[in-house]
Amino acid sequence: MSTLAPTSPFSLTQYGRATSRDDDPASDSGAFEPAPTEGPLRDRFGRIANDLRLSITDRCNFRCSYCLSPDAQFLPSESRLSTQEIIQLGRTFARLGVERLRITGGEPTLHPDLCEIISELSPLYGDVSMTTNGSRLTEATAKAWKAAGLKRITISIDSVDPARFRAVSRSNLDPAVVIDGIRAAIGAGLGPVKVNAVLLVGVNDEDAPALAELARALAIEIRFIEFMPLDADGSWNTTRVVSSAKTIERISDVFPLIAEGRDRPDRTAVRFRFADGSAGSVGTIAPVSDPFCGECSRIRVTPDGFLRPCLLANSEWPIRHLLKGRGSDEAIEAAIREAIWNKDRGGALRMGPMEGRTMSAIGG
Ligand code: 5AD
Ligand code: SF4
Repeated sequence: MSTLAPTSPFSLTQYGRATSRDDDPASDSGAFEPAPTEGPLRDRFGRIANDLRLSITDRCNFRCSYCLSPDAQFLPSESRLSTQEIIQLGRTFARLGVERLRITGGEPTLHPDLCEIISELSPLYGDVSMTTNGSRLTEATAKAWKAAGLKRITISIDSVDPARFRAVSRSNLDPAVVIDGIRAAIGAGLGPVKVNAVLLVGVNDEDAPALAELARALAIEIRFIEFMPLDADGSWNTTRVVSSAKTIERISDVFPLIAEGRDRPDRTAVRFRFADGSAGSVGTIAPVSDPFCGECSRIRVTPDGFLRPCLLANSEWPIRHLLKGRGSDEAIEAAIREAIWNKDRGGALRMGPMEGRTMSAIGG
C-alpha cells in the first residue's frame, strides 16, 4: 500500500471544513459558534494550542515497520511546502503566541535547508526541538544544528540489538551509529536529550530493559510510545501494542522504577525514575491505553501544508493556498484559528484502525 491511500486526506476539499470519518457527534457542541478572532489559539473544548509540530518533509531513509511501507511513495516535490512557506508558517504561529516548536518529518535532517529553517525560526520560540532517527547525527551535524539555534533533540531508537534494530527500521544501519549520535547530541549541548522507542509485540518488546539501560548509561530519558494506527502496512491492532503498563513491568523486573507523573498536565509522557538512584529516566506515552486528549496542546502542520489539529483524527485544513502572498496575514490567521477551534475532541478516545496518512506524512 502506498502512503497515499485513496481515502487519504489529499483528496479533501481545498476550501472549507475538511470532512472526516473521525468527526464524532459528541464533539459537535458549539459547532456553529465562530472561532475567536483574538487571544490564544483555543478550541471548542477550552484547550489552547501552544505546541507546533512542523513537519518539513515526508521523506525518510528508514522504513520503520510501524510507520512506512518498504516501497513507500513520497509526495512529489511540488506538493511539499517550500522552505519559504515553512518559514512563513513558523513565523505566523509564533506571532499567534505558540511558544514551542518541534521540527519533524519524515526525517527532517534530509531537508537541504534544515539549518536555514532552524535559524530563521529559533529566535521566535522559547523552545525549539527536533525529532530525528539519528542516522545523520554526528558531532559535526549536532554542532551545526546547535549553532543554528536548535535547543533540544529527540532521537528514535527501537533496539540496541543490531538485528532487531534493522528488522524494525528496515534499514541497514548499525544502532551503534545512532548511539554515537546520541552521545554527539549530548556533547553538543542539545539536551535534555530524549530517546523515543516504539515496541511491537513479538518483535522488539524484549528490548525495554536494554533500552532503559542505555538511558541509565547516557543519563537521558527514554520514552516508550505505544504503537498507534498510523502505519502504512495497516497492520495495527491491539494485540500488537505493547502497553505502557507492560513496558514498565518488564523494565521494573530488572531496574525497579518509581512513578513521578507528568512534568506538566499537557505533556504526553508520564515519567519514572530509577529506584536505585541511577541517572537517566523512563517515560511512557500511552495514547492507546491511557489517552491524554483532554490536555492536548498540540497542532501539526503536514509537509504538504495542511493543518492537522489532532494526530489521530483525519480532519485537515488546507493553508498552503494562502501562503506566499496569496492570502493576507488576517486570512492566514483566521484559517489557523478556524482549524484549531474545530479540533476534534480526541482521536485517541476512539482508537481503532485508521486509513489515511502514515506518521511520516503527518509529523511526530
Ligand atoms: N505509533 C507510535 N509511534 C510512532 N512513530 C512513528 N510511527 C508511529 C506509530 N505508528 C514515532 C517514531 C518517532 C516519533 C516521531 O513517532 O518512533 O519517534
Ligand atoms: Fe522514518 Fe521516523 Fe517513520 Fe521510522 S518512524 S520510517 S525514522 S519517519
